[in-house]
Amino acid sequence: MDLSSYIRNVNNFPKPGIVFKDITPLLKDPKAVNQAVAQLYHLTEKKNVDLVVGIESRGFFFGTLLAQKLNCGFVPVRKPNKLPYATVSETYALEYGNDTLEIHKDAIQKGDKVIVHDDVLATGGTALAVCKLVEKLGGEVVQCNFLMELSFLEGRKKLSGHNVQTIIKY
Ligand code: PRP
Ligand code: MG
Repeated sequence: MDLSSYIRNVNNFPKPGIVFKDITPLLKDPKAVNQAVAQLYHLTEKKNVDLVVGIESRGFFFGTLLAQKLNCGFVPVRKPNKLPYATVSETYALEYGNDTLEIHKDAIQKGDKVIVHDDVLATGGTALAVCKLVEKLGGEVVQCNFLMELSFLEGRKKLSGHNVQTIIKY
């Protein structure tokens, strides 16, 4: 099954000149969702993972499904002031300005083996910030995986030192 045929290109979203990779057609098809989860699962050589950390919001869809398949827990990383309990946060630079992400401070135990998951690897700024959150709490990032990779934005360079795996490459 060619999963890329389930990704819709939307021109000029969210800004003029950007071609947005829309995963909603994929989410609507249970066979495609199943295949995507199976492929993410196969990217994980060592299955002794303690947690999948998914990044709000589009990293939640497949992050939870992958955690189920690996029979491990799921931890959400969220945008500021969304998590109810005590958090640690990481601020990272965007093209214009900054963004912040948060995780519950007790979400990860020292030595936990963690997969960081998101839908798309673009510049890598988001995923790198999440790796830092995991490491702040004493977790070990064993892999960063994504459904899609926008290779021309060189997110892999930003994540150098991490095991980066992606299903669909553009
Ligand atoms: C998008 C995408 C990734 C991130 C990738 O999320 O879902 O999380 O950007 O960009 P980067 O590699 O350049 O950091 P977005 O902030 O649009 O939010 P959403 O997932 O809630 O739609
Ligand atoms: Mg996102």
